Amino acid sequence: MISTRLTEALGIRHPVLSAPMALASGGRLAAAVTAAGGLGLVGGGYGNADWLTTQFAEAGNQAIGCGFITWSLAIQPELLDVALARKPQALMLSFGDLAPFAPQIHDAGVTLICQCQTMQHVRDAVEAKAGIIVLQGSEAGGHGMSRATLTLVPEAADFLASVAPDTLIVAAGGVADGRGLAAALMLGADGVLIGTRFWASEEALVHTAHHAAIMASDGDSTIRTTTPDVARKLDWPKGFTARVMQNDFTRKWHGQEAALLAHQEDEAAKYTAAFSAGNTQDAGVWFGEAAGLISSIEPAGVILERIVAKAESLLSKAARFVVKSG
Ligand SMILES: Cc1cc2nc3c(=O)[nH]c(=O)nc-3n(C[C@H](O)[C@H](O)[C@H](O)COP(=O)(O)O)c2cc1C
Repeated sequence: MISTRLTEALGIRHPVLSAPMALASGGRLAAAVTAAGGLGLVGGGYGNADWLTTQFAEAGNQAIGCGFITWSLAIQPELLDVALARKPQALMLSFGDLAPFAPQIHDAGVTLICQCQTMQHVRDAVEAKAGIIVLQGSEAGGHGMSRATLTLVPEAADFLASVAPDTLIVAAGGVADGRGLAAALMLGADGVLIGTRFWASEEALVHTAHHAAIMASDGDSTIRTTTPDVARKLDWPKGFTARVMQNDFTRKWHGQEAALLAHQEDEAAKYTAAFSAGNTQDAGVWFGEAAGLISSIEPAGVILERIVAKAESLLSKAARFVVKSG
C-alpha cells in the first residue's frame, strides 16, 4: 500500500486519479478506477447534460468525481449543477478562469481540484482555495501547455509548502507505469492523475482502431498542435495546444492553420465524420507521449494494480541507492 495525504484525504487505497478525458472518460471507466482503489473522474468535456447524466448512471453507486473544461463550462454553467447533484467525490476544473465556479463547488462541500500548467495557474488555484492542485506537464495527452512535469511538480511543491501547505499535489503528464508514480512521489507529489494509460483501457470510450494506433506508436509519434481545435471550431484560449498522434491530418494542417481556418466548414464536417468512424488518419487521435510505454489494452483495474505494485516495489528498493557512510 502506498499511503499519502491524497489517499487519506479522499479515502482511497491508491494515490491515483483517472483523468476526466473529454469523450473518452465515461462512467464505466471512472467506476472501474474507483473500484480498483483509485478515484475515477468522468470527463464533462465540452458539455452535454444528457451525456453526463447517462455516464453518471453508468457508474452506478461507485464514488466518482467529474471534471470540466473551465472555459467551455462558462458557456453552459448549468452543467455544474448537474455534476454537483451527483455528489461527486471531487470536481476538477482545467483550462480557464476558476473564479466564477470555485465558490459554488466549495458551498456544495465538494473538493475542488484545479489542473495547472504554469506557476501563475498555481497561484490562481491557491486563490480559488483548491484542495488539490494537479501539475500537468507537456508530455500529457490532450490539451496543455509547454512546462515539463519534471520541473513543474517540484517547483509547485516548494511554492505550496510555503504558501498553502495543506494543498495536495498531484502530478500529471507522462505517468503510465509504476516508475512514473514512484518518480512523481519523489518529486513531491501526493499522487498522480493518469490520462493516456487509462485511455488505452477496455472501459474507455475509444474506437478500437484508435486503440490499435496507440499500440503501434511510440513516444515520438505525437505532436502539440491547435489543428484539431480549428477543425472542430473550438475556440480554445490562447496558449493551449493539444497533444495528439501525428497523422495525415496533422501533417497536412500543422503550420497551415490559417488555411485550415479558411476551409473550416468543409474540414469540420470531414473531421467529425472521420473521428466517428474511427479513422486514424483524418481526425485527431488523442494520446500523449506515454504511448511509448503502452503495449496492451486491458481492464483499467488491471492497469491500476500493476502501476501500484511496481511503484511499491521500486519505492521499497529505493534504499539501495543510499550509500551508507561509516
Ligand atoms: C484523450 C484525452 C482527453 C483529455 N481531455 C481532458 C479534458 O476534457 N479535461 C481535462 O481536464 N483534461 C483532459 N485531458 C488531460 C488530462 O487531464 C491529463 O492532464 C493528461 O491525460 C495527463 O497526461 P497523460 O495523458 O500522459 O497521462 C485529456 C487527456 C487525454 C489523453
